[in-house]
Order: sequence, then C-alpha cells, then structure tokens
Amino acid sequence: MRSLPARPAAVALLALMAGACAPDRPASQDAHGAVAFNEAAWTAKREADIPADSLGASVKRGLYLLRFTPESLPQYATSGLRCTSCHQDDGIKLSAGSLTGAHARFPQYMSRTGAVIDLADRVNYCFTRSLAGNVLPKESREMTDILAYLAFISEGIPSGYHMSTAAMPKMPTELEGDAARGAQLYVEKTCSTCHGANGEGLGVLPPLWGPRSYSIGASMARIERVAAFIYRNMPQVNPGSLSEQEAWDLAAYINGQPRPDSPAKEFDWPVGGNPKDVPYDLRSGHKAYRPPTLLPRSTPQRAIVPVPPRAGPAAR
Ligand code: HEC
Ligand code: HEC
Repeated sequence: MRSLPARPAAVALLALMAGACAPDRPASQDAHGAVAFNEAAWTAKREADIPADSLGASVKRGLYLLRFTPESLPQYATSGLRCTSCHQDDGIKLSAGSLTGAHARFPQYMSRTGAVIDLADRVNYCFTRSLAGNVLPKESREMTDILAYLAFISEGIPSGYHMSTAAMPKMPTELEGDAARGAQLYVEKTCSTCHGANGEGLGVLPPLWGPRSYSIGASMARIERVAAFIYRNMPQVNPGSLSEQEAWDLAAYINGQPRPDSPAKEFDWPVGGNPKDVPYDLRSGHKAYRPPTLLPRSTPQRAIVPVPPRAGPAAR
C-alpha cells in the first residue's frame, strides 16, 4: 500500500486544526442554565453502527420491534400499524415525528396527561392510542429493548436538550379542510392505490381508517397533525407534491371516517390548554371538533396508561 510521505508542517497544522475544532465539552450550560449543543453537526446512528455486543443486541431488537411491531408483539400491537408507519425511516426522518433525541427530552411534562411522564409511558401512549393496541409492561424485555434503541438514536445529545426537530413540523397555515374535496383527492392523488379504496390498508401498507387504524386518542386523529404528516410525507412516491389546502382536505376526509375509540380520553388535558382540533369532548370543557364515528375496543381496560402521581405536596 502506498502512503504519502509525511510533511511535518502540514501534519502539525492539521493536528492543530483538529484540536481547535474538536469540542472538548459535548454539552455545556449557558448563563441561563439552557443546554448549548450544535444540533446541525449531529447525525443519528443507523443500523450499521449497532455494536456487536449485548447492548447492541438489545438495540437491534428494539429497532426490529419498531419495524415489525404487530408481527413481534401481536398481543400489544393489534392494529394494521407499526411504529415506522408514522415514525418513518426507523424513527429518524425529521418530517415524520422524528424520535431522535427523544431519550434526552424525557421525563417531560405532557399537557395532555397533566403530569410528568417518562419515555416508557410515552411509548405506551403510542401503543394504546396510535397503534390502538395494549399497554406494553414497563418491566418487559421488549420495552427495555425499545428504550435501548431510542437511546441509541439519541447518542451524543445532552440530557434535557430539546431538538428543534422534536415535534412533527406544524402546518405553515391554518386552513379549513373540505372532506368532500378530500374524498376526490384520495383517488386522484393515488392514496387509494396503496391505502385501499376504504382506507383499510393493503398487505403491509398501513390502513388510514376503520378498525385496524389509529384510534381517536392518537395525535394523528387531530386534523392539523395528520395534515402535517400528509403534506410533508405523502404520497409515498411523491412527497411534497400536495398543496397545503389539499393536505387539509385529505386530512378532513380521512379523520372524518370511523376509527377505534380510546378509553378515558375525556380526562385528557385535565387543566386545559388543549389544541382546538381535539376530536372528542373533554371534562375540562372542550367540545369535540368534527368527531368521527367510534368503533369499540376489544380490550378497553388494557388500553389505558395509568397517569403517574402529580408532583407537589399531595404526592408526598
Ligand atoms: C399513527 C401514527 C403513529 C404510530 C403508529 C406511532 N406513533 Fe409515536 N407518535 C406519533 C405522533 C403523531 C407523535 C407526536 C409527534 C408530534 O405531535 O409532533 C408521536 C410521538 C412519539 C414519541 C414521543 C416523541 C417526543 O419526543 O415527544 C415516542 C417516543 C413515540 N411516538 C414512539 C412510538 C413507538 C415506539 C411506536 C410503536 C410502538 C409509535 N410511536 C407508533 C405517531 C405515531
Ligand atoms: C406508494 C404507496 C403510497 C401512496 C401512493 C400513499 N401512501 Fe401513505 N403510506 C404509505 C406507506 C408505505 C406508509 C407507511 C410509512 C412508511 O413505510 O414509510 C404510509 C403512511 C401513511 C400515513 C400514516 C400511517 C397511517 O396509516 O395512518 C398516512 C396518514 C398516509 N400514509 C396518508 C396518505 C395519503 C393521504 C396519501 C395520498 C396523498 C398517501 N398516503 C399515499 C404508502 C403510500
């Protein structure tokens, strides 16, 4: 093998530059206690980076649980959806509910719950609401593996740091969706060829409504959230080709269709602060926005994630 002769001056200069560029503190606090971190220079690890050791085995299993959720966990993931149906590209795609950094931003106060929840509870919200399935026991091997994968794709992000890409980007404009126009677009824009004429899904292609779809308690059941997903990520073969109005119309059509119920949903946002497009009544006073027909759950008692005790004197 040939190698270039070492040029002492150049080598010394390179070493100096490397030293100057290498961050000696991956995380630091600014004067206000906020964590400083160079998000733009960070990239998530991928499957090929998973180490061949015991932790790597757990990380890999976690990744495969995200990809093959119903096949691997048929008692918990009972619908036609898998984690990667929404968290595309193994949870890494930024426009599709990116999970990178999630491990660093939990525990977190969640206004929908009205309490501080940990990452396993957040995963279980997606099991019970997004997947319309059942609570995965926190102490299970599988939950540990999912958390190991989420930690792996957060490696290098300081604890407490909120990535600017944490939430699915909001729709740039607030519009009214027209469900009748959405029904037409559903065929014209080829949605029906992959998701089925009745939104039922086709083989591994996920359903959009009906008994095997996401429940009314899922974030996606809010018209703005699903419009945001559709606008940036669908149709799968040509993302970015829809106008904002088309995405809202499709969202109005899809979320107006029947879908599984989500038990105890009326206790969401216990102290208010809910978005206006929550499609169900709340005890805190909100009236359902364009409520769909609800389909019964076969194991409703297993679909409720217990609310952790609220912080404060009463908890002691
Ligand atoms: C029907 C779509 C859908 C499915 C399926 C789904 N999720 Fe989610 N998930 C979401 C949405 C939407 C959010 C909230 C993102 C937002 O509003 O910006 C979310 C949020 C999360 C978060 C919190 C992210 C954060 O930083 O706040 C985690 C963790 C998560 N999901 C994990 C999972 C796991 C694990 C699975 C499979 C068991 C799963 N999700 C299945 C749609 C889905
Ligand atoms: C070429 C096939 C294809 C077409 C066309 C397509 N999708 Fe999808 N869609 C998918 C796949 C596959 C997924 C799951 C994510 C993945 O695997 O990347 C998905 C996921 C979704 C999801 C989130 C998961 C769920 O099932 O709830 C929604 C919502 C969605 N598509 C809506 C639409 C809409 C609206 C259109 C038409 C504008 C459309 N899709 C066109 C293949 C397609």
